[in-house]
Amino acid sequence: MQAQYTKLIICCDGLQCKQIEQLYNDIKNNSIHLFMLKKIYNKLTLLTKESVPVQTPSFEAIDTVNRNPIVTRYQIINHLVKKFGYTSYLEIGVRNPDECFNFIECAKKHGVDPGVEGDYVVDFNMTSDEFFAQNTNKYDIIFIDGLHIDEQVSRDIRNAIHSITENGTVLLHDCNPPTLHHAREDYYDFTTPAKDYWNGTVWKSIVEFRASELAQSYECNVVNTDWGVGIIRKTNNGHRIVNNNPFYSFRKFELNRSYYIGLISIEEFYLKYR
Ligand SMILES: C[S@@+](CC[C@H](N)C(=O)[O-])C[C@H]1O[C@@H](n2cnc3c(N)ncnc32)[C@H](O)[C@@H]1O
Repeated sequence: MQAQYTKLIICCDGLQCKQIEQLYNDIKNNSIHLFMLKKIYNKLTLLTKESVPVQTPSFEAIDTVNRNPIVTRYQIINHLVKKFGYTSYLEIGVRNPDECFNFIECAKKHGVDPGVEGDYVVDFNMTSDEFFAQNTNKYDIIFIDGLHIDEQVSRDIRNAIHSITENGTVLLHDCNPPTLHHAREDYYDFTTPAKDYWNGTVWKSIVEFRASELAQSYECNVVNTDWGVGIIRKTNNGHRIVNNNPFYSFRKFELNRSYYIGLISIEEFYLKYR
């Protein structure tokens, strides 16, 4: 009886409180027979299934939305360039400049890329590590979109915050992978439902940064658009999160994205930087 009752309560999730209360009283008063309870239980199971359809968006839908976002990474970048009157921009990982670099409206623009994904012309044909080892310039804005492995991304973040101007901004692409398949380590594993879409493990670097000492002096948020656009800026009232996900479990991360990566909506972004 107790087990049935427990099951019933689970099934009642989503029903009106009054209906649950009535059932509870009937059971308590023993005015319900077990066979009736079983009938109600079956009916409720059916009802719950019918009334709360599980809506899992298809991979195609997820990828289409991110591929054609309402607000793109370069619109976010251009908004900040305009707002802060920036004049110098650096992009780490350029690939085809017609996809982002050429849309950036900034007086001085530099690109870094070792040419892993195509033979495009860039100012610095080298890895980000090689670039930062020899760089003496300061940039107003640095967009990190090179090798999407957290170890590399975390290094890029630290190098970038030392290479920006006083009021500068560091941005990152691919911070909000929609599924574990998009967040896989191995780019070349095209057998998953994410096919060749790949955000890598950038999200882990964001969590790591937000939990680090640096988070006391730098705020870090991710705008929920275009696979997640991360924004890191100096602040006087930074807040360091507790990383209660030491194994960087994706399952745990996806239950509370706003906590782990400081996810904000497009509207919140425009409000924050109006
Ligand atoms: C995702 S693509 C960049 C896309 C581009 N930023 C955009 O918004 O359209 C990643 C690029 O990073 C480059 N890359 C790979 N490893 C790198 C590294 N260690 N340092 C810098 N760039 C790297 C690849 O050659 C590739 O062109």
